[in-house]
Amino acid sequence: MGGTSESVLVRPAARVRGRVRPPGDKSISHRYALLAAIADGASIIRGYSTGADCASTLRCLSGLGVPIRQTGRGRASGLEVLVTGRGPHGLRAPAETLDAGNSGSTIRMLSGILAAHPFRTSITGDASLRRRPMRRIIVPLERMGSRITSNAGRPPLTIDGSLHLQSIDFEPEVPSAQVKSAVLLAGLHADGTTRVREPLPTRDHTERALRTFGAAVDQTGGLISVRGRQRLLGRELAVPGDISSAAFWMVAAAALPGSEVTVEDVGLNPTRTGILDVLQRWGADIRITPTPVPGRSDIDEPVGTITIRHANLREIHIRPEEVPGVIDELPVLAALATHGGSLAVTGAQELRVKESDRISALADGLRRMGADIDEQPDGFSVRGTRRLHGGEVDALNDHRLAMAFAIAALGGSAPTTIHDAGAAAVSYPEFFSVLESLRA
Ligand code: S3P
Repeated sequence: MGGTSESVLVRPAARVRGRVRPPGDKSISHRYALLAAIADGASIIRGYSTGADCASTLRCLSGLGVPIRQTGRGRASGLEVLVTGRGPHGLRAPAETLDAGNSGSTIRMLSGILAAHPFRTSITGDASLRRRPMRRIIVPLERMGSRITSNAGRPPLTIDGSLHLQSIDFEPEVPSAQVKSAVLLAGLHADGTTRVREPLPTRDHTERALRTFGAAVDQTGGLISVRGRQRLLGRELAVPGDISSAAFWMVAAAALPGSEVTVEDVGLNPTRTGILDVLQRWGADIRITPTPVPGRSDIDEPVGTITIRHANLREIHIRPEEVPGVIDELPVLAALATHGGSLAVTGAQELRVKESDRISALADGLRRMGADIDEQPDGFSVRGTRRLHGGEVDALNDHRLAMAFAIAALGGSAPTTIHDAGAAAVSYPEFFSVLESLRA
């Protein structure tokens, strides 16, 4: 959303109670829009994320000649978007530089598609995105036959795509669903079979979405393979609620005595439910009810309902191999530890190259509110032995920090002012109004 300076005052809360339908999953929304754009025929995407990041994907696709129409707002469940697919290699050279805003998913995954289009595209983003590492996609996409220039490995990127990409076998240095997806999307347009071997499993929404659009994708152990030159077919799709957005309410309910929150129609993809495993191991009281969908197959995104109540939390250590499964939830888990119990996280150095350096910004912000938190190069530890006093914190234009600070602030003895809180709109524009509605 680029440079919002909105400040929000968050008052402490005794408890939270109620039911929430989180916004459409951000990761899945991006992928459905990108695949719909290169499919044959029209797609209707219901429950599309209301966040600014997913609007950035639609704006970039429009700039590439994809007809996109917002056909309405499905009741309480996000946007409805009609995308007219342009088929393989069907995107058009943009008239101007594309703007991915704050969205790493947009710039990285779209680069995989543009690598296969024989024209030049420049993509930039806001100040945060222009600091983020792109060599991780530049290296494999150049090996496949595209040419990409960057600002010393950061955006803006200028991509010269090719109609004649070669398949590769690729092992990313860091576990990253965005990197995996960029390579698989380029591989879809390449000669031969492209294989990605993951160092640790990451979210598999691209693999599922490719199958949903009719492509064959093989997933065996940590190896994902896609044959090139497959065509996709437009579809009607429903995006489940975002478990990473739901995590804020789950944590608030776990933290505050007397709380109970039910989250409905939320995605339960096993590569995203690490947050539930962590909360359960930590001692939280959670009930998970999968929603049976007649005719559902293994490729579909599972959904369900989660109810969470307050419980006293113990100590927990999140280990390096668990980190990819909770990477976006680590800020709010740190907020949870300020309410009681203790949390140690190791092997999470990737947090330093997210929308902000989430280790230092989190430690700085929570400490300003009175938390007992230590920062390490690859993680942090928080001890919830003292009540926060509130104060003033800066979300540094990072949506997940703005929302994590708000959840920590609920346990303070006095209110907290969060600067740059408007950043929440990147993934969850309704966040602060939902927070007020849950105060009981
Ligand atoms: C995402 C993957 C993760 C995550 C990001 C969304 C995705 O990033 O942090 O919020 O949709 O693929 P990395 O691929 O950089 O780990």
